[in-house]
Amino acid sequence: MTRIKIAIDGPAASGKSTIGCILAEKLGYLYLDTGVMYRAVTWAALDRGVPIEDEEAVTRLAETVTIEVIPATVEDGRQYSILANGRDITWEIRSPDVNRYVSPVSAYQGVRRAMTQQQRRIARDGGVVMVGRDIGTVVLPDAEVKLYLDASLEERSQRRYLEYQQRGQCVTIDEVRENVMLRDRIDSTRDTAPLRPAEDAIVIDTTSMSITEVVERTEAIVRAAIAAAEKRD
Ligand code: DC
Repeated sequence: MTRIKIAIDGPAASGKSTIGCILAEKLGYLYLDTGVMYRAVTWAALDRGVPIEDEEAVTRLAETVTIEVIPATVEDGRQYSILANGRDITWEIRSPDVNRYVSPVSAYQGVRRAMTQQQRRIARDGGVVMVGRDIGTVVLPDAEVKLYLDASLEERSQRRYLEYQQRGQCVTIDEVRENVMLRDRIDSTRDTAPLRPAEDAIVIDTTSMSITEVVERTEAIVRAAIAAAEKRD
């Protein structure tokens, strides 16, 4: 069976990870949320006391840190486990500090180069659902399916806020909205690989859609693309 590449991009909390993970499971594909890689570099910089504004040092770290995304090693609600140089940092990468600094770190060209290289290697043989900000535009411009999920700022802030509450993290909705807004701005205005839909992406506004509705819609798109790829091969 033909195994295609599926790129899902969109702003923070637009539903990319939830939908990407469900689609990958249905298809038996590998799922990779590339945001965790930028988060892991940010965490490593904070952990080692590397100043975030020191682009050269942060880039060197991105080139040397070993990031692994593996099946969940603990049953605590995680979708997968993230290791940085062998240490489990699955929850640490969701901390308010990482949230604050991940957008500036991911704007560094050298950091993006290092992450893009790894992501392309992972997707080389197809059979992958890759989620991020620049997957359809930069990382996998040849992906057979490119989806761009979006939702209103208020809806995305509410979704993120609920996630924090479920994890017992103490934040206010105003803090969450501020962070989402700030990251949207940095991610879409940076020089290298800014957040935007690829020209051939299908844009879906999920503001008033349920997860089931988004899954149905995107699965139909993906199944049609797989059928077309099989006919072609
Ligand atoms: O999807 P997320 O919120 O976990 O992503 C964290 C940050 O990483 C986001 O603010 C921008 C950056 N990112 C990126 O620049 N490119 C990607 N492909 C994925 C994430």
